[in-house]
Amino acid sequence: MKFFVDTANLDQIREANDLGILDGVTTNPSLMAKEGIVGEKNVLAHYVKICEIVEEGDVSAEVISTDFEGIVREGLILADLHPNIVVKVPMIKDGIKAIRYFTDEGIKTNCTLVFSPGQAILAAKAGATYLSPFIGRVDDTGWDGMDLIKQIVEIYANYGFETEILAASIRSSNHIIECAKAGADVVTCPLSSILGLFKHPLTDIGLAQFLSDHKKANQ
Ligand code: G3P
Repeated sequence: MKFFVDTANLDQIREANDLGILDGVTTNPSLMAKEGIVGEKNVLAHYVKICEIVEEGDVSAEVISTDFEGIVREGLILADLHPNIVVKVPMIKDGIKAIRYFTDEGIKTNCTLVFSPGQAILAAKAGATYLSPFIGRVDDTGWDGMDLIKQIVEIYANYGFETEILAASIRSSNHIIECAKAGADVVTCPLSSILGLFKHPLTDIGLAQFLSDHKKANQ
């Protein structure tokens, strides 16, 4: 399972990358705004900075346009920035048309704002590289986000769709574990959810004991 970090914060991206377990980054317009990155020039330059930190991993950069021509125009500019850019496109009619266009041009895509198995089928048919079902936001509505992942895993396996299931809107470390059990290809998470995987009280207690025994024995 690939680990992506879901942020536009360069310090967090560096911290995740330094762990040696990072496979990529996803951003969205809200995450860019949160970092105060505004204006096309600054936004594009920020994506390049992210790509330079991650080096090998895919970096999703989202379009703002919602019409086919606009999505294609923006996507081509984004894809030109760096070989690792993945053009992130919303799950709408013109988005699917644009994903088909990008697929045919050999440009990687991430179909975002996915909330149903039907939407997942459309994105796979258009050849999306990644599909982003939003687990946490489904949970927020009282439905089961993990069930959505499980349904998509089953459907994609039935037909050998190559689109990678990129579980997004991850809210906890447990979401990551549940995604791994369900067979998601990628999880994109806040850094805190990745760091939460380290935690176990018995690890802390055991390490303290080892160090204390070592110290006593070597006094
Ligand atoms: O990048 C999209 C997704 O991960 C957003 O998550 O927490 O805003 O629902 P969230």
